[in-house]
Amino acid sequence: MAHKGFTVWFTGLPCSGKSTLARLLEKELRARGKYVEVLDGDEVRQRLSRGLGFSKEDRDENIRRISYVCKLLSRNGVVAIAAAISPYKAVREEARAEIENFVEVYVKCPVEVCAERDVKGLYKKALRGEIKNFTGVSDPYEPPDNPEVIVETDKETTEESVNKILSKLKEMGLL
Ligand code: ADX
Repeated sequence: MAHKGFTVWFTGLPCSGKSTLARLLEKELRARGKYVEVLDGDEVRQRLSRGLGFSKEDRDENIRRISYVCKLLSRNGVVAIAAAISPYKAVREEARAEIENFVEVYVKCPVEVCAERDVKGLYKKALRGEIKNFTGVSDPYEPPDNPEVIVETDKETTEESVNKILSKLKEMGLL
């Protein structure tokens, strides 16, 4: 039980808050003595998934790679935290089937609020038609049916969202 590994899988629209929550959760889990690795979409796409684009095939391939690494880490006692849009339900279900302790967190936020945040200015570009197949604007996002946790980042503080996740992890016997 000392080093029980698991995977926390964040899914949600661009600018919904996945990376922010992933980093805050990382900090909380480290403070509890866990070994933690964050696999963030933006970073993964510069390394592990360099060269992949945003077609359904490439997104699914990206998610399969992240999922494989999460499996390797979590079966060795590490906490893997994935923060990628992961827009397609079927491939998220593959990840769930592959990873022993899988905790899906739906980062729920209305697309209008995400577009308002527009951290990288990409919604603006997508709305002008300068980026094609942009999730939430011109590409689909399939929300999970039965995620372990739903956080609503337009209604909760980041602290409340992280606490929801920590409570669920305790309830599941992972902390
Ligand atoms: S996923 O769909 O394959 O899960 P991932 O989380 O790795 O996506 O990457 C999303 C990041 O890529 C966004 O934060 C954004 O910065 C960038 N990006 C570039 N083009 C797109 C696009 N067409 N749709 C979504 N994100 C895009």
